[in-house]
Amino acid sequence: MLQNTSFAIHPGNNNKENKRVLKDIGRVKDVQSDDGVVTFCCEGGTVHIQFYHEEVVRVTYARNNVVPLPTQAVTQQSKKGLFTFEHTEHMWKMQTEKLIVEGNMSPFRINISNTNGESLLAESDKGLAYNFQGDLVNFKQAHDQDRYYGFGEKTGFLDKKGEKMTMWNTDVYAPHNPETDPLYQSIPFFLTLRESLAFGLFFDNPGKTHFNMKEDKGSYYFHNETGALDYYVFAGPTLKDAIQQYTWLTGRMPLPPKWAIGYHQSRFSYETEAEVMEVVDKFEEKNIPLDAIYLDIHYMDGYRVFTFDEGRFPNPKKMVETLKTKGIHVVPIVDPGVKEDPNYPVYQEGMRKNKFSKFLDGSVFYGNVWPGKSAFPDFTSETVGRWWGNLHQYYTDIGIEGIWNDMNEPAVFNETMTMDLKVVHDNEGNPKTHNELHNLYGFLMGKATFEGMKKNLDSKRTFLVTRAGYSGIQRYAAVWTGDNRSFWEHLQLAVPMCMNLGMSGVAFCGSDIGGFAHDTNGQLLARWTQFGAFTPFFRNHSAADTIRQEPWVFGEQTEIIVKKYIQLRYQWFPEFYKWFYEAHKTGLPVMRPLVLEYPNDKETHHLFDQFLIGENTIVAPIMTPDTKHRVVYLPEGKWINYWTEDVFDGNRHHLVYADFDIIPVFIKQGSAIAHGSIKANTKQQETDWQLHVYPSNEDKVTYEAYDDNGETTSYEEGDYELYRIQVKLSESMIELVSNVEGTFRPSMDQRSIVIHSDVTYEKAIYNGVDVTSSMTIENGCTVVDLSI
Ligand code: GLC
Repeated sequence: MLQNTSFAIHPGNNNKENKRVLKDIGRVKDVQSDDGVVTFCCEGGTVHIQFYHEEVVRVTYARNNVVPLPTQAVTQQSKKGLFTFEHTEHMWKMQTEKLIVEGNMSPFRINISNTNGESLLAESDKGLAYNFQGDLVNFKQAHDQDRYYGFGEKTGFLDKKGEKMTMWNTDVYAPHNPETDPLYQSIPFFLTLRESLAFGLFFDNPGKTHFNMKEDKGSYYFHNETGALDYYVFAGPTLKDAIQQYTWLTGRMPLPPKWAIGYHQSRFSYETEAEVMEVVDKFEEKNIPLDAIYLDIHYMDGYRVFTFDEGRFPNPKKMVETLKTKGIHVVPIVDPGVKEDPNYPVYQEGMRKNKFSKFLDGSVFYGNVWPGKSAFPDFTSETVGRWWGNLHQYYTDIGIEGIWNDMNEPAVFNETMTMDLKVVHDNEGNPKTHNELHNLYGFLMGKATFEGMKKNLDSKRTFLVTRAGYSGIQRYAAVWTGDNRSFWEHLQLAVPMCMNLGMSGVAFCGSDIGGFAHDTNGQLLARWTQFGAFTPFFRNHSAADTIRQEPWVFGEQTEIIVKKYIQLRYQWFPEFYKWFYEAHKTGLPVMRPLVLEYPNDKETHHLFDQFLIGENTIVAPIMTPDTKHRVVYLPEGKWINYWTEDVFDGNRHHLVYADFDIIPVFIKQGSAIAHGSIKANTKQQETDWQLHVYPSNEDKVTYEAYDDNGETTSYEEGDYELYRIQVKLSESMIELVSNVEGTFRPSMDQRSIVIHSDVTYEKAIYNGVDVTSSMTIENGCTVVDLSI
C-alpha cells in the first residue's frame, strides 16, 4: 500500500543509508588538560581521560563534548594530580606511577601499558568509531594467548574467548543453553589474562552493550547503542589485583548475617502457613539443619507486594516469630510490579505521590506481571527509592530480616519481555529513557530495598538476594542464577557461571539447587546439594508443578546424602565465614577458579568444572548421572583427599573415585581449614572449633580465622575477632603461637588444633605455655585442646 504513496521514495528506504557504517573518530583537533581531565576534541567526537587511582584510568568517548556522569555502579571519584601529561603534534602521553596511557593524534588512538613497559590494551588498526545510529565502538588488539574471564552471569565455559555477549537484563525462562544470552544480570566487566600478566576492563553503560570477543583479525570490540562509551581499565598486574581494583571502584559486599550463609529451603510456593510449618517441622524431625525458608508469590493477597493473603497466612507475625525462636528466618519475595488497584494502598500512594515510571506525556507505564496490570516504581529517583525502602517496614515490623527480589530486570509478560523503552525515567532530574537505563533497574531496586531494610533493622544486618543487577550489585545483594532446570547440564553450567560472577565482584552467588523447572530426581538432587554445600549461596528452590525436592522426597538413600552435605556446610561454616570476610575486605570471590590462585599454570586457564574455596580447598563436583569417577586436576604441591587422607601429587590429572555420597575435595598440604560443629542452624553457638592442619615438609602452617556476632553491623567498628595462629612442627614438638585482633571473643566451649600427620609428638607449647597434657590422639591425628 505504502509503496503507492510518496513513502516509496523515502530516503530511509535506501539500503546504503540503513547500514550501520562505522566512521573512525579521526584526528585530534584540539587538546586540553584541565582539572585532572585531558580532553581530546576529535573529528568524530570528544574523548576525556582521567584517573581514579594510579592503577585505574577512565576513558569516555561521546559525540558531544560533555564528560558523561558515571553510573551508580561507581563509588569513587576521579583524582587530580595523579598523572603527568605531554603531547606533540603527533603523540600524546599520560603517566601515573602504574600506568602509561598514550597514543597517536592522527588518527586518535589510545594504547595503555604498565610502567614495566608491558602493553595491556592497544587499539587495533581501528580504534574508536561511531555511526549515525548512535553506536560507539572500540576495537582492541587481541593476542593469541589472551583468556577472558568475568562478564558476570553468562552461560558457557569459564574462558569467554571467542564469545559474543550482550548486556541487557532479560527474564529467560527457557532455555538456558550454552549460547543463551543475555540473562538476568549485566556486569560489563572482564579480566584479560595474557601469559602471567592480567588486567581488567569495565564498560560502564546501563543501556544495551555488546562485547564481541571473537577476535576477528586479531582484535575484539565492544560497543554501546545509547549514551557514551565509558570504560575503566584496571592495571592488575595479577587477576586478583584487577578484581580488587574493580571492586574498589564498584564496592564490596557488606558481611551478610550468618543465617544467610546457612542452608535455605524454597519452593514456588509454600502456599500456606500450614505448609510452611509442615516443611519446617519435617526439617526438625529429621534433624536437617535449616536457616531460612522462602515465601514465593502465593503468600501475597492477589500478588500485591507488601501484603499477606489472610486466608493462607492468617498470622504472619506469629509465624515469623515462632520460626525465629527456632532460628529460622522467613524470606518473602518482593517483585517491582505494583498491581493497578485503586483500593490497594501501595498503588494508591504510588499514584498520588508520583512514584511510578512514566512516559514523556506523564502517563504511567503499565505492564502485565503476576498481579496482572501493574505499575513500576521509578527507582532512578532517590525519593522513590526511599519510599520503596520505607515500605519494607511492613516486613520488618513482623520480624522479617531478609528479602528476595525477583522479576526486577524488570520482566514484563509481553513481546519485548520488559518495560516500554520509551518510558522516561526521572534519573534525579536528568531524564533518560528506559532504553538508556534498562540494566540499572534491578540494581536500583536492590539499593532501595537494602537501604530500606537496613534502616528499619537498625544495627541488625539484612540479607537480600536478587535476580537482576548491574556492576556493583554486590554492595546490596547476593545473586542467584535464575530459572535453571533440573538437568545435569544445568548443574554443569552453574559452576563456571558462579565462578565468573565471583570474578565480576559478586562473591555471594549460587544456583537453584536441584534445578528450578522440570522434575529433578534423587541422584541429581544429591549431586547438586554436594556442589551447593560449597557455593556461597546455598538454596534449594523448585518451580510450581514440578516434583517436590525437599531433602526427604526421594527416599532414604538420597536423604542421607543430602542431609550429610547440608550438615557439612555447617561443619565448614568457620571456613566459609573466613572467606566471606575476605570477600568483604578485598572483593575477591569465595568460590574461585583455579586460575585465580595458579595463573602461571596453563592447565588452570580453561578449567571450568572444579573450583577452590578460598585458597587451599579444591572441590570437584560429579555432574553426570550414574558416575562414580572423574578426572581432577591438582596444581603444584601435594594435595590431601579430604575424605581418605590419601596424598596426591600436584601438577597432574588424577582419576578420582567418588561414590554417590562423596564429592571430591582436596586440601593443599601445608595449609589448614577451620571446622565447626554440626548445628540445627547458625543461631546455635559454636561448640567445637577445630583447625585441621595438613602439614607439609616445611612444617610451618599459618591460619587467620575470622569471627563476629554474625548478626549486627558492629564488626564495622572493630567488634570482631581475627585469630591468627602459627603452627610450627619439629620432629617431636608442636609449637603454637597466636595473636588476636578486634574486640569480639567467641563463646566457644572448645577450640582445638588437629594435626593430620602420623608423627608422634611429645610436647605441645601454646603461646609459651606447656599444653602437652591436653594432647590426645584421635582418628590417627594429634589433637591439641586449646581451651584448657
Ligand atoms: C521467577 C523466579 C522464580 C520464582 C518465580 C515465581 O520465575 O525466577 O525463582 O519462583 O518467578 O515467583
